[in-house]
Amino acid sequence: MVIKKKVLITGGAGFIGSHVVRLFVNKYPDYHIYNLDALTYAGNLENLTDIENAPNYTFIKGDITDEKFINSIFETYKFDCVIHLAAESHVDRSIKNPLAFVKTNVIGTMVLLNAFKSCWSERFDGKLFYHISTDEVYGTLGQTGLFTESTSYDPNSPYSASKASSDHFVRAYGETYNMPYVISNCSNNYGQNQFPEKLIPLFINNIIDHKDLPVYGDGNYTRDWLYVKDHAVAIDLIFHKGKLGETYNIGGFNEWKNIDLVRLLCKLMDVKLNREEGSSEQLITFVKDRPGHDLRYAIDASKINKELGWEPSVTFEEGLKKTIDWYLNNEHWLNNVTSGSYKLYYQNQYS
Ligand code: NAD
Ligand code: TYD
Repeated sequence: MVIKKKVLITGGAGFIGSHVVRLFVNKYPDYHIYNLDALTYAGNLENLTDIENAPNYTFIKGDITDEKFINSIFETYKFDCVIHLAAESHVDRSIKNPLAFVKTNVIGTMVLLNAFKSCWSERFDGKLFYHISTDEVYGTLGQTGLFTESTSYDPNSPYSASKASSDHFVRAYGETYNMPYVISNCSNNYGQNQFPEKLIPLFINNIIDHKDLPVYGDGNYTRDWLYVKDHAVAIDLIFHKGKLGETYNIGGFNEWKNIDLVRLLCKLMDVKLNREEGSSEQLITFVKDRPGHDLRYAIDASKINKELGWEPSVTFEEGLKKTIDWYLNNEHWLNNVTSGSYKLYYQNQYS
């Protein structure tokens, strides 16, 4: 098979990255997919056992902040395109250890940008740097309004500030060096393989174990939720059809107040676990609020819808049911990721 493109996907052993790697490996046998991941606490090769022996797939263990190593792999493989997902991704961890977020999300992105630029000596025909970002860079909304691609950046957490900074550098490389790039900013993802530190998998895991469900503040914070496989499809579309130098917002048209979402999750879990109706809701515990907690995120995804024809494929309830089923059927995965250092993290965050 003649290989048409060599695509480097960073962070491919993480939650969203593993879905993107799988989609590309299976859908494009004439691309070679290189998955570069440092395998931090969030990276897990168990997410990819079904495709690990595919002939068009190579895993590379490495850290995006390691300049010498990153330059060497660009020299060896001459990747045509990069889809950059590797990041520190959890807001609560960024509040405890902001510097780790600057290192990976800002410096790591810079190292990749420099390697991409020098590899092609600024002759970029057919090349692409696709940077995956978040809606959190826009800061918070009040009770109304939506984030559009022209909303000003106004990040509030160390996580979103580090992502905003990396977005700016990608744009700056486009302006300064004519580097071909595209950026997408997506809302909250949920689905299989998400590490149980984020709201939905954390609460699924706690319900299974009859543990408290720690809702921050009064629970009246709003997020726009998207099923992870729909995000992967949007990334595929933007990678192939997005306009260079543009930003695309991706969202689920699916806003939920945390407390309403948690109640729905409890209801669905009671059914799946054959527990008495209302029993999981009794685990809800209101705890101290997150500092700098953004009130509301909501995405206007009309640009990607109109220009590229993308829309979410599943309703929230369908997506949640699939997600719950996956966690219930993958006890081994859940046990593996919640043993060891997870216990320490949980104690520090919630005690
Ligand atoms: P994740 O935390 O599940 O995975 C991150 C991956 O990056 C892990 O596999 C980890 O090992 C790897 N990684 C971390 N530091 C690294 C380093 N220094 N070098 C190499 N690899 C490293 O994250 P996720 O939720 O899958 O998010 C992926 C991307 O999507 C991130 O850039 C995030 O900002 C963005 N995003 C996430 C969401 C969401 O709801 N999860 C929404 C919008 C955008
Ligand atoms: P999270 O999944 O951490 O995503 P993000 O902060 O990137 O939006 O949190 C989603 C929402 O759920 C957010 O408003 C914070 C809230 N939350 C809780 O109430 N309790 C928790 O234990 C966690 C992890 C989150």
